[in-house]
Order: sequence, then structure tokens, then C-alpha cells
Amino acid sequence: MQFTFARESSRGVPGTSNPPLEPLYWFGQTVELMPDWDHPLYLKFSDQRARPAADLIAQIQLENPQRLIDLGCGTGNSTAQLHRRWPQASLTGLDSSPAMLAQARKDHLDWQWMESAIEDWKPQASCDLVFSNAALHWVPDHAVLFPRLFSAVAPGGALAVQMPYNFLSPAHQGMKKVAARPEWAGMLASATETLFVQPAAFYYHALRKLASNLNIWETEYLQIVDGPRAVLDWVRSTAMRAYLERLPDDQQRRRFEEQCLAEFEKSYPPDDQGKVLFPYRRMFIVAYR
Ligand SMILES: C[S@@+](CC[C@H](N)C(=O)[O-])C[C@H]1O[C@@H](n2cnc3c(N)ncnc32)[C@H](O)[C@@H]1O
Repeated sequence: MQFTFARESSRGVPGTSNPPLEPLYWFGQTVELMPDWDHPLYLKFSDQRARPAADLIAQIQLENPQRLIDLGCGTGNSTAQLHRRWPQASLTGLDSSPAMLAQARKDHLDWQWMESAIEDWKPQASCDLVFSNAALHWVPDHAVLFPRLFSAVAPGGALAVQMPYNFLSPAHQGMKKVAARPEWAGMLASATETLFVQPAAFYYHALRKLASNLNIWETEYLQIVDGPRAVLDWVRSTAMRAYLERLPDDQQRRRFEEQCLAEFEKSYPPDDQGKVLFPYRRMFIVAYR
């Protein structure tokens, strides 16, 4: 059985006594070498992955939004969560991955699915809710992106976003350390970390003059998982993709993974039941027009 609990902190608004946020790092965009998203692997942790979206949706103060878009909808799990909260609303899911969208379409033929990069999305009409769960960390240039997404929000509507905010964790640092080894450095040089997710204060400043009301917070979920290999499985379908997709074949990918696993075994030693505590920090933003 998996257990999860969360440690909440509300920081990020300037003028509070909270400590300054460290700079955070994310990885570069996808390249063509690796197959499309591994959605069965991604769905392995679907309960844990669903929780931040539920926590975000719970905070959105909209009575009866009509037009909703889910940017980076994946297989439609977050879209389905939106549907449960607002069953009358018209839903569009947008994603750049054909594999994710094929699964989404299979489960919910009646909703609209669009294959597009978020950065290329040009809304036909404004939306009452522009929603994105666990996707915008892949999209560069948040100084331009966030005001642009907010401009697609109808009067009285909201932009609601959740992103991983975990880039200084031992898991991320372990991958970075392995990638810097001479064996990998040549192939993985282009995977050097790129700053996409910014400190919370950045989003406050980007949106404060546009939004009538802003809610920004962070939550650290403390996930109890089945040992360091579960940590590997978690990151393999998300952050590790930036490294794996730059390696030429499965043999090298497996070798890279095993070396990362050896690092995770040091950072996340299992307890006497074989479990490890795997903290995962997320950032949440709800901006109302
Ligand atoms: C971690 S999944 C989240 C899926 C879904 N929102 C959920 O909560 O289950 C991230 C999704 O974002 C999509 N994605 C990543 N970068 C994207 C981009 N630039 N444009 C569109 N979709 C993107 C991926 O294809 C993937 O389906």
C-alpha cells in the first residue's frame, strides 16, 4: 500500500518573512530520439500524481465555468478531474503527445482533444478556466508564457497552474551528477538544466497587475514509496526523460538508469520495511481575471 502526506508552506509573496527561494532548475525540451511518452509508466503512480491536481481544483473559486481548457492534458486524467467538479462545462484537452492523446480519446470520445504544443496554442475564444497540471515546467520563457495564457482567460475566469518545484532534490541532483560523468557528458551536454520554473515571487510579479486576485502556494508531498527503485520509476517517466531521450539506444538508457539508481540508493536508503520517504514539492498558482 502507498501512503502520502503533505507538508504545506505558504511562501513566495514578497514582503513576507519567508526565506528567499533558491534558484530552481528544469531540463530542456524533448528531442526526437526517444519514443513518445511512456504513459503506462506515468500512470503507475496515478493516485499520487492525481492529488496535486485535486488540491489545485479544490482552490479554484469559480461557480459555473462554461469553457475549460486543460493544457498538457496527457491521458485526460486531469481533464476528468475538471469534469467531475464542473460536469456541465465544455472541455478541451490539449497535448503535444499523440500517445497521450490517443489514450485520452479512447476514454472520453465526447470531449475535444487537440494535438498542439502549448507554446503554439492560439485560442479561438477566451476560456473561463485555463488549467494546466504538471506540464508548464516543460515550456520555456514563463515571463512571456504566463501573461499570454492569462490573456486567454475570460472576464471573471481564472488561470490555474500546478508545476513540480523539486529541482534541488537528491533525485534531481543524482541524475545531474551521473550525467556529468565522462561516459555521459558528451551525449548529455544538451540536456543541461534550463531554468523554466521560477520562484513563486516571479509569478506574483508577472501576474499581479493583470489579475484581480492571486493565490500562490507550495506544498511538499511526502510520498512513502517502495524503495529507491520506486524513486527511479517515478522520475523515469518525468524528469529523467530529458536525459534518456538523448541516449541512442535502450542499452545505454538502462545503463544510465542503473547508475542513477545507485545514487538514489545512497540518497533514499530504505527503512526496515523497504520503504523510503520521497519528498516532492509543487507550486500552485490561481490567478483570477
Ligand atoms: C506530467 S504529464 C501531465 C498530464 C496531465 N495534465 C495530468 O495531470 O495527468 C505532462 C504532459 O504535458 C505534455 N507536454 C509537455 N510539454 C508540452 C508542450 N510544450 N506542449 C503541449 N504538451 C506538453 C506531455 O505530453 C504530457 O502529456
